[in-house]
Amino acid sequence: MSVAAVIGAQWGDEGKGKIVDLYAQRADYVARYCGGANAGHTIVLAGKKFKFNLMPSGALYPGKTNVIGNGCVIDPKRLLDEITEVKAAGITPTLLISGRAHIVLPYHFELDGAEEEKKGDLAAGTTRRGIGPCYSDKAARFGIRASDLLSQDALSKKLEKMHDLKVKQLGIYGKTFNLGYKDVLSQYSGYGRLLSPYIGDATFALFSAISKKKNVLLEGAQGAMLDIDHGLYPFGTSSNTTAGGACTGTGIPPKKIDEVVGVVKVYTSRVGAGPVPTELNDATGQKIRDKGDEYGTVTRRPRRIGWLDLVTLRYSTWINGFTGIAFTRLDTLAGFDEVKICTHYELDGKKIDFMPQTQEEFARCKPVYKSFKGWLDMPEKEWKAFAKKGYAALPKEARDYLEFISKDIGVPMYIVSVGPGREDTIVLKDVFAK
Ligand code: IMP
Repeated sequence: MSVAAVIGAQWGDEGKGKIVDLYAQRADYVARYCGGANAGHTIVLAGKKFKFNLMPSGALYPGKTNVIGNGCVIDPKRLLDEITEVKAAGITPTLLISGRAHIVLPYHFELDGAEEEKKGDLAAGTTRRGIGPCYSDKAARFGIRASDLLSQDALSKKLEKMHDLKVKQLGIYGKTFNLGYKDVLSQYSGYGRLLSPYIGDATFALFSAISKKKNVLLEGAQGAMLDIDHGLYPFGTSSNTTAGGACTGTGIPPKKIDEVVGVVKVYTSRVGAGPVPTELNDATGQKIRDKGDEYGTVTRRPRRIGWLDLVTLRYSTWINGFTGIAFTRLDTLAGFDEVKICTHYELDGKKIDFMPQTQEEFARCKPVYKSFKGWLDMPEKEWKAFAKKGYAALPKEARDYLEFISKDIGVPMYIVSVGPGREDTIVLKDVFAK
């Protein structure tokens, strides 16, 4: 048995979904621990595409328990739609929603937009899914949790207070809220009835699973640089996306986690605002964007593209304690004569090789690059052949590039992904191998 976490090592969209899907085959439990419908992943099953925002990635495998941990925030309507979609495909998902997870309410969506407008150039460019305002209420101990949806008394009492406050709060931003308290109550009581079979004590379920030596996969959302504490504040999300969040967001103690796999896209991509030192606002950036279809899964915003940034990756490795790396998108970065890695920054005339604390300093960082020879682009079927032949068969230039990164951060490679499909993957270590 093993407990393994899969975590985005950069700014989100590293390709975690594919790595989680791969490891999920041998997991008994797949648990999400942070974020909500701001995350997005696509899973292809028998030619049909499923786009999930909330559902853990094990949902399409029979016999796995899919957990939405206490660290998540849930938009019940969206989750119900996802459940319906899975059922329509003839699969009954085994889903367990932590009663301690917080619920996104209609006010949160409105406040997300209003607060972003107010922040001006400090706005993070959120997904407008109500994430920040829902976590704010959680921290203020004003929130409504999944378990509240099971009790009409608890829900009506808490919602009545919240409704009054939120209408006033929206008023500060000059916004009106059109739904009355009773409308929201009846809508959310209805969601509660439909979700009640799935709501339970996920902390206890995971404790029991680990006691019975089951394989537990902890599915990260977003990426380390978006972490509320350790990311680029205030341009990140509102939860702990890093390895510590896997513990607090599920109730699994740190010492029970055996493997922490950092998913590293071989270049940088970022949706949303804030400085990105290695950003490529040129034809090279556009070529990577088009080749990799780098447009947000949730919002379809074009992602900002840059060379790989080893400074943030070193920091990410430290705060997450990665035991292995899963490299993704090696195929997308093919076809360039030269590729670059930012090895350190220059900040106010000084050389630094570790991420600075403030976004103001980060914005002044100038990347210093090391150049590498690029590797040839190939048709899809040749990449598939490489995946079959294994790591040693990859072009030498690509191996030199990957090995430089792995050596610098001192973390071994567990996976190299050379395409979107399950079969386009070189697995050097399976976290659930017996
Ligand atoms: P929020 O999580 O919607 O509040 O957005 C906060 C910041 O995190 C914004 O810059 C978003 O673009 C970014 N973000 C949130 N979720 C994701 C994700 O799943 N992938 C990449 N970026 C994300």
